Amino acid sequence: MKKRILVTGAGGFIGSHLVKFLVEKGYWVRGVDIKRPEFWKTKAHDFKLLDLRQWKNCLKATKGIDEVYNLAANMGGIGFITNIKAEVMRDNVLINTHMLEASHQNKIKKFFFSSSACVYATYKQNSPDVPGLKEEDAYPADPDNEYGWEKLFTERLCKNYYLEYGLETRVARFHNIFGPYGTYEGGREKSPAAICRKVATVRNSGSVDIWGDGKQTRSYCYIDDCMEGFYRLMQSDFRDPLNIGSDRMVSINKLADIIIGISGKEITKTYDMDKPQGVRGRNSENTLSKKVLNWEPSISLEEGLKITYAWIIKQVK
Ligand SMILES: NC(=O)c1ccc[n+]([C@@H]2O[C@H](COP(=O)([O-])OP(=O)(O)OC[C@H]3O[C@@H](n4cnc5c(N)ncnc54)[C@H](O)[C@@H]3O)[C@@H](O)[C@H]2O)c1
Repeated sequence: MKKRILVTGAGGFIGSHLVKFLVEKGYWVRGVDIKRPEFWKTKAHDFKLLDLRQWKNCLKATKGIDEVYNLAANMGGIGFITNIKAEVMRDNVLINTHMLEASHQNKIKKFFFSSSACVYATYKQNSPDVPGLKEEDAYPADPDNEYGWEKLFTERLCKNYYLEYGLETRVARFHNIFGPYGTYEGGREKSPAAICRKVATVRNSGSVDIWGDGKQTRSYCYIDDCMEGFYRLMQSDFRDPLNIGSDRMVSINKLADIIIGISGKEITKTYDMDKPQGVRGRNSENTLSKKVLNWEPSISLEEGLKITYAWIIKQVK
């Protein structure tokens, strides 16, 4: 019989791609979210609109399910998570705690949790040319924002649901996942989508504003690569948190230059030093994920941005 999978956050960016990916692999998929996907029709066999901060909804969502991919979260890019703190911590702790307990009570066989590179210690990310972050670099703990503290808490909750109740849990730390069919405006968008939108909407020889001095660094992983990585993690026996990201670190200036190059426009950059920019440097170190998953991202930043920019320019038109 086909495995029955629950994807929470199925109305969001990664969740809506994951539903499609799993349906194409032949699974029966239930999607749950507080909203339907904004940019395409869900491919889920069953889609329920449920608020997973509420316990009874988590029980309903996990009923008759074999495996859970728990992606639902109240989150956004650096602007959003810098400003919204109590709401993010409260909502996500409620969602994740209820989802783990409901999965335990409904005898779910495997539970996936989408953690984040935001768990890593701030003191390891103080300059633009930092070494890649290994999984062990999350401790001693010092995440740079409250969203990271909540993710760290849930990582530990996953571990303890395995140790106390035998619930098999898998945890990926995503590093800046990007691609089409994701939020690109409204305040929750992340840097690749935000810069694509700015470049797509500015006239030739205009300018785009960059948050901070643009020298801060990050790594970016295209959605299809990410999905293959965490699907492999779900199939593996590996119970500790694992990086899912690219290990090619670029500055925000470089990211913007690539997007400007793709657009074919003559655009200059201006700098807004009052905007939040997060840690100074961040990259993924992939030795462990290569070993455990026999996987590393294969789609270049340039290729991924080309697809993303083409999709965003269509939306803004
Ligand atoms: N995109 C990234 O670069 C990235 C990086 C690190 C971690 N993550 C994690 O991956 C997961 C998916 O991220 P995404 O980029 O697709 O974000 P997203 O915002 O597009 O998707 C999250 C979804 O969760 C839903 N949600 C929020 N509150 C809910 C509630 N109370 N009940 C039910 N659904 C609710 C939202 O409506 C949204 O559709 C999240 O857990 C996020 O923290 C993403």
